[in-house]
Amino acid sequence: MAYIPGLKGIVAAETRLSSVDGEAGELVIAGYPLEELAGQATFEEVAYLLWHHALPTPAQLAAFTSDLAKCRSLPKSTLRLLKDASKLPAMDALRLSVASLNLNGDDATDARTLVAALPTAVAAHWRLRHGQKPIAPAPDLDHAANYLYMLTGNTPDPARVHALNTYLNTIVDHGMNASTFTARVITSTRADLVSAVLGALGALKGPLHGGAPGPVLHMLEAIRMPENAESYLRSKLDTGERLMGFGHAIYKVRDPRADVLSRAAETFFASGSNRAFYDLALHVERVALHLLSEYKPGRRLHTNVEFYTALLLHGLGLSSDLFTPTFAIGRVAGWIGHALEQRTQDRLIRPESAYNGHKNGRWVPLADRALAV
Ligand code: ACO
Repeated sequence: MAYIPGLKGIVAAETRLSSVDGEAGELVIAGYPLEELAGQATFEEVAYLLWHHALPTPAQLAAFTSDLAKCRSLPKSTLRLLKDASKLPAMDALRLSVASLNLNGDDATDARTLVAALPTAVAAHWRLRHGQKPIAPAPDLDHAANYLYMLTGNTPDPARVHALNTYLNTIVDHGMNASTFTARVITSTRADLVSAVLGALGALKGPLHGGAPGPVLHMLEAIRMPENAESYLRSKLDTGERLMGFGHAIYKVRDPRADVLSRAAETFFASGSNRAFYDLALHVERVALHLLSEYKPGRRLHTNVEFYTALLLHGLGLSSDLFTPTFAIGRVAGWIGHALEQRTQDRLIRPESAYNGHKNGRWVPLADRALAV
């Protein structure tokens, strides 16, 4: 059997949760084209769709929303932990807090608690890190609105809530990406949901996956003016660096999520200096695409979701430290959907490896071992 680096092209699961067509630039979430769903549904509706394979009726949605809202508060021990971890980066603190939640091994309750508690943990840590007291969740606000409220203490306006719902829906699930695959591998051993989510959080954190949007914003801030874009991007490419927010393992055309998010982001950059920042991003995107085709001909590198994630979340007033945790707040519903699906398939995921070492080792007592050259 041939070794396939990165398992590229290997179909590792059957799923009804999402379909990604990298050549057509098409993403379907549980039967619904992304463009149909993302800007119309609330996050609760999409989470329900992923877990129950149908959009909820009004009564089902009301019950689901209220059940989720009841699971938002963190145990006192988790809050204490977050206080002690207030100097840690947000993703590390999130990992610690998820590991400390009171979960009982019942999938339905654990699933709700994991989705509901993530925003509370992120917001509490954020405030503690900035010397402020955490804000208790507001039971009457929906999931997205409550997250923004717990960060700032202000009830957000409907445009902001709509934009955040659009973002969370856009990134909620995406085929067999690294973090989702991690969640499925862990679940395939019949481990619990919290272990699957913890593993997925670790996989999401890296800059080649969910860690990219922070560096995208830093890149835009460093470029500052359209006339600096080309020299800045060339200097990165000349030293072999990757341009964050471009390229994708599956999409060989523009990531459809980039379009949905760019439209949602535009509303926050309608005027003044904000508009200048949005225009700068559009210019940087154009220059980057041109340079990528020059430096990496034939690799088909296009804008990915993280480029416009940075812009949208920045427009929403979130600091770049919150970008990856906010990604996790949306994707956790997808991880859980996959874990529940993997549970029903009940098949251990256990690929093989190709050994490339030698096989003729002979034991040498410690005292006789020379330093290997
Ligand atoms: N900038 C410059 N060169 C790039 C980029 C980039 N953003 N992406 C890929 N390349 C180059 C590679 O250096 C490689 O060049 P080579 O053939 O000369 O060696 C070639 O394109 C193919 O690269 P691979 O790593 O094999 O491509 P793959 O499709 O596996 O990579 C990945 C996908 C990891 C996302 C990559 O495009 C990348 O590192 N992008 C930047 C980070 C980023 O934006 N990540 C977010 C992805 S979206 C998400 O996870 C939600």
